[in-house]
Amino acid sequence: MTLQELQVAASTCTDCVLSEKRTNVVFGEGNPLSPLVLVGEGPGDNEDKTGRPFVGKAGQLLDKALVEAGLSREIVYICNTVKCRAADWSTGKPQNRPPTEEEVLACRRWLTPQLMLIKPKVILCVGAPSAKNLIKRNFAITKERGKYFPCEMAKTAIATLHPSYILRNAHSGSDGGYSLLVEDIARAWEAAQKLVEKEREYTSNS
Ligand code: URA
Ligand code: SF4
Repeated sequence: MTLQELQVAASTCTDCVLSEKRTNVVFGEGNPLSPLVLVGEGPGDNEDKTGRPFVGKAGQLLDKALVEAGLSREIVYICNTVKCRAADWSTGKPQNRPPTEEEVLACRRWLTPQLMLIKPKVILCVGAPSAKNLIKRNFAITKERGKYFPCEMAKTAIATLHPSYILRNAHSGSDGGYSLLVEDIARAWEAAQKLVEKEREYTSNS
């Protein structure tokens, strides 16, 4: 199966309750040949409406951080832990919420083959739900961000602060952790480049 075929199959998924309220399945986009894949939490309102990952306020901050780290969203591949928007609809006005464990597990049906097809050298988990899903259940984001961890889906994985968290956290005199986001992206990219280089040396010597 190709990535495109997987995307088409996912677009009609009804494997968890998030399918009931979604407008679009947000599969992911960018360069599928990139050695670095960013995995966020899940779509918000703007992403649900457009079908594209990280296009709202958090996405704009992520874009800015990518550029500051010398990259852009076209250079890497960007997707999410769950592909449909998770929100609390009980008050009339939907409030975004983290996906439940059940929803995360259901959506591995798409995330796992997606990552297996892309075969990134490095995965950058953006936010705690992604790190808990791909690195370890008890991942402590503020303590363990920026460090390399083993990961089944890549040579290594590293986690960073979620731009939504940074936006909530920023106030006069604090960037909310934005500089750490830029730093972690740069570190992840550096690791990915090193692993590509190592592979190149290995294949040219054998
Ligand atoms: N937050 C995420 O985790 N992913 C998106 O695509 C948008 C906001
Ligand atoms: Fe399917 Fe994932 Fe959407 Fe749930 S979140 S309906 S598993 S695509």
